[in-house]
Amino acid sequence: MQQERSNFTNKLGFVLAAAGSAVGLGNIWRFPYLAAKYGGGTFLLIYLILAVTFGFSLMIAEISIGRKTGLSAIGAFKSLDKRFGFLGILASAVPIIIFPYYSVIGGWVLKYFAVFISGGVSSAAGDDYFTTFISGTFEPLVWFFLFLGATAVIVLLGVEKGIEKVSKVLMPLLVILTLFVAIYGLTVDGAMDGLAYYLMPHMSDVSAKTILAAMGQLFYSMSLAMGIMITYGSYMKKENNLESSVRQIEIFDTGVAFLAGLMIIPAVFAFSGGDPDTLSAGPGLMFMTLPKVFNSMRFGSVIGTLFFILVFFAALTSAISLMETIVSIIMDKLNWTRRKSCIFVFILALIMGIPSSLGFGPLGFISWMGMSVLDIMDFISNSVLMPIVAFFTCIFVGFIIKPKSIVEEVQEGNVTFKSEKMFTVIIKWIAPIFLVLILASSVASALGIFTI
Ligand code: TRP
Repeated sequence: MQQERSNFTNKLGFVLAAAGSAVGLGNIWRFPYLAAKYGGGTFLLIYLILAVTFGFSLMIAEISIGRKTGLSAIGAFKSLDKRFGFLGILASAVPIIIFPYYSVIGGWVLKYFAVFISGGVSSAAGDDYFTTFISGTFEPLVWFFLFLGATAVIVLLGVEKGIEKVSKVLMPLLVILTLFVAIYGLTVDGAMDGLAYYLMPHMSDVSAKTILAAMGQLFYSMSLAMGIMITYGSYMKKENNLESSVRQIEIFDTGVAFLAGLMIIPAVFAFSGGDPDTLSAGPGLMFMTLPKVFNSMRFGSVIGTLFFILVFFAALTSAISLMETIVSIIMDKLNWTRRKSCIFVFILALIMGIPSSLGFGPLGFISWMGMSVLDIMDFISNSVLMPIVAFFTCIFVGFIIKPKSIVEEVQEGNVTFKSEKMFTVIIKWIAPIFLVLILASSVASALGIFTI
């Protein structure tokens, strides 16, 4: 009995830790703007299908590889097969690209928190407020610097455990508040059209671009294809049920993303009449839409302030774990001290983040396929590198170590692997073929060979 109980808490602890890394700006900021841009219900449906098939299989594979080897990405692939050491390195490049621009967005969140707490809800709700803010030079840079600095200080001082404790309490609050704002938003005139847009798929909207966007989001949101889940898996106990843990992490992560979409997309229709330009606003969507919602609400100033501080904590914990990942890679690879690695990563992220921050203002002339610098960074990591890492992970599991070895890892302690067949077929055949097709079509359209 005692044993059972402690297993349960361990498993819960594992699920919460992994979900804590998974839930972040990806769910609250990124998912809604992609869903709004790529056809609402169509995107949602594709995302859900990919989550229960690809996302599930890939997360099972990564956590198993971690638990089996007890190592993080770079060491794990190498220890199973020498030729696949490159995959760990490729996977590690992803957080290095994500972290700087993640901190830029973290800075925006911090700015909105500051505006709300100083009573600026009505000015923040103005049509041009966000655009004026990000097209500036120094202001977005200062907020980016503050966010990155806070993250670096926490990692440098090694006090992330304290922050994680605080955020464990704040996360459920964020979920409840998101639900509350979503319900409020749905009562505003016009929101029902937005709800229909969000929930009803239109098959005519399905394109390779939409599928690629949904897949990139899946990797990003669940922290897949970048070695993170391998590291988490390396801390997981053999007696904890791997399959059901993965299910729970997925349900949690997808649930939060779904709620965030429910909060933002109907509100776009209620407050901007479903204007196509607003729907395809991209990274700014949350910042343009939510202040209008809070401004129309009783006590909106207080609720908005609370909302942005909670999102700030969600972003901060993710940023800490991103930075932590990079720091430990550098410490391992270069044999540097923790302090030296922290300072190096801080400076690197600062240099890499500046163009993303300026890309909406002074560097606005830099544009590739209509994307700003931040979108380009995001595209390289989510739509190029991560599908490549995912592809090689599938090949690695499907043909090198064989699905059987993962299946055995999942069955550890005599548990049945309920989705064994689905996992095997997806990881070995469906996922790699699909990934190649999607990548090829996106490269082709990027090169202008054809557009789908
Ligand atoms: N999944 C996180 C989110 O949704 C972002 C993220 C990507 C992340 N990779 C990570 C967080 C690594 C922590 C560690 O926001």
